[in-house]
Amino acid sequence: MMQQLANKVIFLTGGSMGIGLECAKKYAEAGAKLVIMANDKASLETAIAILGKEHSAFFGDISNELDVKNGIELALNKYQKIDVIHNNAGIANPAKPLHETNDAEWQNLFDVNLKGILYTTRFGLESLKQTQGCILNTSSLVGEIGQENHAVYAATKGAVNALTKSMALDYAKYKIRVNAISPAGVWTPMLRQWGKAQENPEKIEKYLDDIHILGHCPEGDVIADACVFMVSEKARFITGHILPVSGGAELGYRRTD
Ligand SMILES: NC(=O)c1ccc[n+]([C@@H]2O[C@H](COP(=O)([O-])OP(=O)(O)OC[C@H]3O[C@@H](n4cnc5c(N)ncnc54)[C@H](O)[C@@H]3O)[C@@H](O)[C@H]2O)c1
Repeated sequence: MMQQLANKVIFLTGGSMGIGLECAKKYAEAGAKLVIMANDKASLETAIAILGKEHSAFFGDISNELDVKNGIELALNKYQKIDVIHNNAGIANPAKPLHETNDAEWQNLFDVNLKGILYTTRFGLESLKQTQGCILNTSSLVGEIGQENHAVYAATKGAVNALTKSMALDYAKYKIRVNAISPAGVWTPMLRQWGKAQENPEKIEKYLDDIHILGHCPEGDVIADACVFMVSEKARFITGHILPVSGGAELGYRRTD
């Protein structure tokens, strides 16, 4: 049977750890060639050791225009095309209410979580037009429902959702689909760091299990499976969609015992 992503070239930001690495593994398993861009050299090396040398790593900062330009050029020089851009890299720090957030923290959250999407689109769009490819953004459920002590992060993800829909409208004429994937909690280095910063870190694991009505906080594989579908031909008529992969965390009025 033909692999779902055979002959596809995927430019994936934040592919060196956490959700991004799980996506990278599943994309590679499905037959894609990858360029993973991240700002951490050690985890990039480990990721390529796992994925195999036919894939490429690019060290750079997604909020830096030149870095993203160079990363996209590397993909085009090596593979001559890009079929999928998955904008996954993001940061969640600091976890604070709005009034405690200083200008530098605000700017950094917006730069990393949004400018990366601006730059990959700026430099990758021409190739996506030729391949009639797609863009997938990693959002977060909190972009829709908000989160205590995390106002600016939630605002950046609300903006990711709005960008996703607007980009879908703008690029449909080129047959480019644009969607987002929206997790609630996922066990990754980012979530562990957030957990440690909470008032009662020892209670966080149970809290994170409880918020998902399916009963547990997942690992990144559940997100990666959904991402493979969203960037594949199977999702060829889906665009402008924010797909929750959240174990139902957003549903209903919940009783707390
Ligand atoms: N973990 C969760 O519970 C959760 C929930 C909802 C949404 N998300 C979103 O999923 C995405 C991935 O999160 P994660 O938990 O895997 O994070 P993580 O911290 O475990 O991994 C983040 C990855 O992004 C890269 N990265 C961060 N800043 C970068 C920058 N400026 N330039 C280049 N690369 C950069 C890191 O090197 C790393 O590869 C993020 O967009 C995050 O907001 C995570």
